[in-house]
Amino acid sequence: MSKEAPNQKNVIFDEIVVDRRSHRRFWQEFPAKDDIKSIIDAGLHAPYAAASVGSTNDYFRRFFVLKMGSKCMTTAASLIFEEVSTMASKLEISMENDTQLREKAIGFANRLAMIKKLGKVPGVGTAPYFIVVAEKKGFPAVEQQSLAHCLENMWLKATALNLGFQLVSATAQMADNPEFCVMLGINPGEWALNGCAVGYPADELSPSILPSVDEVTRWLE
Ligand SMILES: Cc1cc2nc3c(=O)[nH]c(=O)nc-3n(C[C@H](O)[C@H](O)[C@H](O)COP(=O)(O)O)c2cc1C
Repeated sequence: MSKEAPNQKNVIFDEIVVDRRSHRRFWQEFPAKDDIKSIIDAGLHAPYAAASVGSTNDYFRRFFVLKMGSKCMTTAASLIFEEVSTMASKLEISMENDTQLREKAIGFANRLAMIKKLGKVPGVGTAPYFIVVAEKKGFPAVEQQSLAHCLENMWLKATALNLGFQLVSATAQMADNPEFCVMLGINPGEWALNGCAVGYPADELSPSILPSVDEVTRWLE
């Protein structure tokens, strides 16, 4: 870690936080391998649920890097697409007989339908790198929270490197998929998964429009 004066650190931190956006279009050029390694290193530095995974002998966080155009990326893209399509069909059937579910799930169902129509899961094969992150399951089951911390660190590091980053949350659905897990070299069902796409962003995005801190904060006495 660099030894900058604290105020400079603070200014840079704020800049990175404000610059962080979801990028969904990437150039095909591959970022340097060292940049990808430093993004993974930032993920490794993220907090983990020590009490939940404490007794495991094996290190509980793993990263798998898939490159655009590779055999593994083609396999991953088709397996994830299949899983999302199945999820979309199952949700459609469940919503037919359940109006409450329909009301709650319609936005998500529409998103799945859009992916089905597109024929691919955005972020898997649409950016130079697709990185899958695995967190060993523990008790209580807080793996997805740990993965979210890990991915946020990776996202901020990618932003600091001027790289685009996209969460690929459909990756989580692959944790029990035997073919996908065998490809990664892990046992199906033992790990929670999530993922992200990384590459040079094709669009320049302006900072998000957000409410002010005062609008969303209540100070309790
Ligand atoms: C739990 C979670 C899952 C998300 N999954 C995806 C995803 O699969 N694909 C995607 O493009 N964005 C995904 N996003 C990104 C959000 O859509 C995005 O953060 C939000 O629209 C705000 O935009 P910003 O990231 O540019 O600030 C996800 C965000 C969260 C918190």
